[in-house]
Amino acid sequence: MEGRTVKFSQTTLTELMIPSYANFGGKIHGGIILSLMDKAAYACAIKHAGNYCVTVSVDGVDFLQPVEVGDLVSLKASVNYVGRTSLVVGIHVTAEDVKENSIKHTNNSYFTMVAKGTDDKPTEVPPLILEEMEDIRRFIEAIKRKSFRKEADAKMRKTFSKFIPTEDFHLLNGQRCETRLSGGKEFDDLFEKPD
Ligand SMILES: CC(C)(COP(=O)(O)OP(=O)(O)OC[C@H]1O[C@@H](n2cnc3c(N)ncnc32)[C@H](O)[C@@H]1OP(=O)(O)O)[C@@H](O)C(=O)NCCC(=O)NCCS
Repeated sequence: MEGRTVKFSQTTLTELMIPSYANFGGKIHGGIILSLMDKAAYACAIKHAGNYCVTVSVDGVDFLQPVEVGDLVSLKASVNYVGRTSLVVGIHVTAEDVKENSIKHTNNSYFTMVAKGTDDKPTEVPPLILEEMEDIRRFIEAIKRKSFRKEADAKMRKTFSKFIPTEDFHLLNGQRCETRLSGGKEFDDLFEKPD
């Protein structure tokens, strides 16, 4: 299968933030930005893959700054990494205040997409041709992020697979919560203290 360059599928989606996108605080709903990010990731992924793509997971969605009504939001999407059937699309989001002529960076996120064939099964994507040092940096960073996520997922599964009150209750110390167990019982009444 012939490779495709990063440039081949780079996509920019720009949309004006209209008043109906605002939340009760007058800023743009996070969900609107997420939906635009998904669209940008989809367009970029399908260009590279040449096949229909689905979103499998999203990493690193932090809204660093609020987006205002009237801002022109631009989402730059690039394929950062390809596996066999999956690809990681990096999205860089900026919001431009067109009146003030100022641009702020609102977030970066990484969408893992999987290409599907006409049989609805994952299908191979073309290799990625890395022409710039920046392409190489992003590809390597994606490999590291993937391996870090695999380790973190395994750790999370292990940590959250069972809840052991006698071992975990101390985590509530200093937290802004209070326990009100049914019947007015205290923790020590319900569980035997560990020796
Ligand atoms: C994505 C999907 C096709 C994966 O199916 P699967 O049976 O696990 O397929 P595979 O095991 O062959 O995995 C396919 C690829 O997805 C990757 N993948 C699967 N689950 C993943 C996850 N949670 N995170 C990142 N990558 C994942 C695999 O690593 C593999 O990549 P590779 O071929 O590059 O090595 C399937 O889970 C699906 O269709 N999910 C629904 C997606 C969807 O509808 N999204 C829209 C949002 S509602």
